Amino acid sequence: MLKGLIFDLDGVLTDSAKFHLAAWNDLAKELGIRLTNEQLNSLRGISRMDSLDLILQYGHQTNEYTEQQKKQFAAAKNEKFLQQVDTMTPKDILPGIPQLLADAQEANLKMCIASASKNAPKILHKLKIASKFAGIVDAATVNKGKPDPEIYQKAQQLLHLKASEVISFEDAAAGVAAIKAAGQFAVGIGDRTVLKEADYLVASTKDLQLDKIVAAYINS
Ligand code: BG6
Ligand code: MG
Repeated sequence: MLKGLIFDLDGVLTDSAKFHLAAWNDLAKELGIRLTNEQLNSLRGISRMDSLDLILQYGHQTNEYTEQQKKQFAAAKNEKFLQQVDTMTPKDILPGIPQLLADAQEANLKMCIASASKNAPKILHKLKIASKFAGIVDAATVNKGKPDPEIYQKAQQLLHLKASEVISFEDAAAGVAAIKAAGQFAVGIGDRTVLKEADYLVASTKDLQLDKIVAAYINS
């Protein structure tokens, strides 16, 4: 029986994913690396240092920098990202999400966040929706990033629920893989070619309707 919902943050509750990708793309250019759209999109859901490692790998620059230099690159990217976070308001919550959260509350479903971002608490605060969630499992709380199931398993434990009792929401291939590895029902938001493993897929958050999602979960 369904008892809880687990949400990724960037690209699901708000479009901060585009700020992450823009800041990474700027950094890549500064390093002389031109990323394809596919390479850029593969960074969705991936932790900060893993994203940097992937970019260096795409640019054939693995092992060219010291750990200290890599930390500086990641810090510069984060500075740029935080400038965008500072401008966020509740108006930046994606369409369809306020209704979905209200319907979930009405249905007494427990909710929490599973985000790879160390900035998740700050973003939720800016969006003024932190109080809707029982808690946040973020990058600071886990040892392994998505696609490892750890973050979704911890989120489920935080809600005191079993894998079969939750539905989890993701916009990233790495995130959907993490949900499935945790044995949970995955709602993907985006492109079917990228989110192949999702149990239920919508093109946009606008299309998220709790009754339809629950019907798909029951039939799964
Ligand atoms: C994820 C984003 O939520 O968080 C990634 O999808 C990002 O793009 C990752 O790299 C880490 O975020 P932060 O804020 O800790 O650098
Ligand atoms: Mg995401």
